[in-house]
Amino acid sequence: EKGGYASFMLKEIAEQPKAVADTLLGRIDASGSLTLDEVRISAAELREMDKVVIVACGTAFHAGLIAKYAIEHWTRIPCEVELASEFRYRDPILDQQTLVIAISQSGETMDTLMALRHAREQGSKVLAICNTNGSTIPRESDAVLYTHAGPEVAVASTKAFLTQLVACYLVALYLGQVRGTKWGDEIRAVIRDLARIGGAVERVLGTMEPVRELARSLAGKDTVLFLGRHVGYPVALEGALKLKELAYMHAEGFAAGELKHGPIALIEEGLPVVVVVPSPRGRSVLHDKIVSNIQEIRARGARTIVIAEEGDEAVVPYADHLVRIPVTPTLLQPLVATVPLQVFACELATARGNEVDQPRNLAKSVTVE
Ligand code: F6R
Repeated sequence: EKGGYASFMLKEIAEQPKAVADTLLGRIDASGSLTLDEVRISAAELREMDKVVIVACGTAFHAGLIAKYAIEHWTRIPCEVELASEFRYRDPILDQQTLVIAISQSGETMDTLMALRHAREQGSKVLAICNTNGSTIPRESDAVLYTHAGPEVAVASTKAFLTQLVACYLVALYLGQVRGTKWGDEIRAVIRDLARIGGAVERVLGTMEPVRELARSLAGKDTVLFLGRHVGYPVALEGALKLKELAYMHAEGFAAGELKHGPIALIEEGLPVVVVVPSPRGRSVLHDKIVSNIQEIRARGARTIVIAEEGDEAVVPYADHLVRIPVTPTLLQPLVATVPLQVFACELATARGNEVDQPRNLAKSVTVE
């Protein structure tokens, strides 16, 4: 059933272009608008929402963190993202004007289920983003947008994550479309870019051999750090989570702007640091700041592994290893930037002799709180 791949994880990483395309299928009409009929919360209700709250765990939480950037930018509705396990215990402020989005691959995660039950008890509408038809979370929600990743067997989430991102973008763009924002032209352009993004993921997958080689060379290390900014920050968190769960290594993701507030003290000779670089176009200030960060850590001995857009020449002098990703709109970059981190973690774990499909101590679906 692994279709010739050494593990389900490798197979599922390879399936990502299709998973992304399948999740878009039938949701963009011929005129380039979104049709999300399945979202049974009416356009009128969606126009009334004054806050979005996203609840999820683990990798799905990282998708939620990225969704926040998209939702707030395209809709101007304030959006909070919270770990489902923390949510209900702090008596969150919720009402009928709060749209709660619960993200879950399995649809059975108890923390997420308890969070959504709490939200519904307070009168909020819950939209589930879920990969498993008929599972508990969508059944208990007011509406559901299914991701079409297909069954995910490996414990570590890969293709489900990319499709969760696609679903989050669809929700953000749909909210923008329904409510009408000044970003109308940008929204139409992004919908066109989204329709092509599977091809970009495919291209990344075709260039992963140097990343595998690099990962194998780091098998003896104890720690890897990950830095990112803007949507690259949750990507850094996701890269670190993959490495923890698969390679059993100490891995941490930081917002690059936080470096000087503490984490830079960790930098020592030979420490591998993966940096997710924002596009030099668009929010170019952030790009320039992160290039300075790369310079700073390299001057202190870090071995820099730089993930940067094709054509970004500014990073070249400071990258010990350079991983190229296709040019994408800023908010969509996580769809391509995450892929090398998945491959990196999978290969490093394999080089350390770990079983990537069944990491120790972990279960695919966590049905206890
Ligand atoms: C990480 C991973 C977990 C899950 C988390 C939520 O690779 O698989 O962190 O993302 O347990 O699971 P779902 O999405 O099923 O609610």
